[in-house]
Amino acid sequence: MSDVRTIILAAGKGTRMKSETPKVLHPVAGRAIIQYVLDVARGVRSLTNYVVVGHGAAKVKQSVGDTVTYVLQDKLLGTADAVNRCAAYFKNYSGTVLILCGDTPLLSSEVVRELVRKHTQAKASASILTAEINNPQGYGRMVRDAAGDLMAIREQKDASVEEDKIKEINVGVYCFNSKDLFDALTKVKLNPNKKEFYLTDVVELLLAAGKRVGTLTTSDETVAFGVNSREDLAQAEAVIRQRILKMHMVQGVSIVDPTTTYIEANVKIGQDTVINPCSFIYAGVKIGRNCQIGPMARIRPGSKIGDGTQIGNFTEVSRTTIGNNSMMKHFSFLGDAQVGGNVNIGAGAITANYDGKNKNISKIGDGAFIGSDAVLVAPVVIGKKAMIGAGSLVTRGKNIPAGSLALGAPARVIRK
Ligand code: UD1
Ligand code: CA
Repeated sequence: MSDVRTIILAAGKGTRMKSETPKVLHPVAGRAIIQYVLDVARGVRSLTNYVVVGHGAAKVKQSVGDTVTYVLQDKLLGTADAVNRCAAYFKNYSGTVLILCGDTPLLSSEVVRELVRKHTQAKASASILTAEINNPQGYGRMVRDAAGDLMAIREQKDASVEEDKIKEINVGVYCFNSKDLFDALTKVKLNPNKKEFYLTDVVELLLAAGKRVGTLTTSDETVAFGVNSREDLAQAEAVIRQRILKMHMVQGVSIVDPTTTYIEANVKIGQDTVINPCSFIYAGVKIGRNCQIGPMARIRPGSKIGDGTQIGNFTEVSRTTIGNNSMMKHFSFLGDAQVGGNVNIGAGAITANYDGKNKNISKIGDGAFIGSDAVLVAPVVIGKKAMIGAGSLVTRGKNIPAGSLALGAPARVIRK
């Protein structure tokens, strides 16, 4: 594929979110919206990515980190102005500029790759992704002549009654020849209705200059989906969630009830593991093969679960690693714990990991047996094959040697 550089527009306010958090940082399945857009850029092998920031710029920079170049748009003067802010970086570049919006978490790399391919093959000046949708409300309309050739993109606010009826809309994803784009941007005039400079006006300027402008039309409505409100956010979450569940099922994970299973992005689950209903598995968690998870299990970030392990009903695991073939089947909590293999965590047993200031670590060796309702006050170490009696309270720092039996509250070692 030819040389591609991407500009992601993310300076907008996101007013309808009614939020202190910049819109592009709201999470969908445990990842900021803009991360999905960056995936698309990576998916077309765009190695140099620019993010135009404005509203909440500091937060966006902090969250996204230094893998991209930030361009500040201090006044929101419209999409043309946002792109033009990047001009200095493109002076000596004559390849393709891909433009994406920061608020489109459902956009797929496949369709964008196709757009880039078409753009390159046609040696076009601009190529625009469009979609045929039933409710074009709010989108720019693709205005064509009788022969079907593109004439302009008309924003809804500026559309005539006839244009308003057009169902082919501008998705907001474009490829441009860099030189042609930045030349045309200097000529865009302020739109009198919205008092903004429209990127979409570039189309008419390019056509007037005799340049080639192509389109790629998709029937996938989700492609155009941008998050503008909390309702949109929930809709995006639902779509991504289904995609994630499908991916795991394709890879050999049983998901008993997809409608009540919540698995965030970047979770790894081994083959033949069964996820039972009403379970929550958060971003970055790793689960081995042949595990039984849930129903009603909550496996929080920073957790790693070995093969053949069972995490049963009403359980929570947080920042915890568990080895192979361990069992934690009923009403338990493990936080900041390092648990070995073949460990039994009895019903109701918990780690008391938080002392009001710090989160402390519990270590439970291979083959240990933690009786029902035991409380392990961290930091504490339970040795290999040690046995903790039901209802025992193992106090802070009172490490239990390997192979011993400890009982009571506070627990005392009664057999070595
Ligand atoms: C834009 C398109 C419209 C298209 C729609 C697709 C224009 C004029 N119109 O409209 O044809 O159907 O997207 O979603 O481009 N942004 C900035 N700086 C600004 C203004 C916007 O960075 O000054 C960013 C926003 O954060 C957003 C993106 O650009 O990510 C699109 O801006 P928005 O105001 O949402 O444009 P629309 O009115 O939706
Ligand atoms: Ca928008």
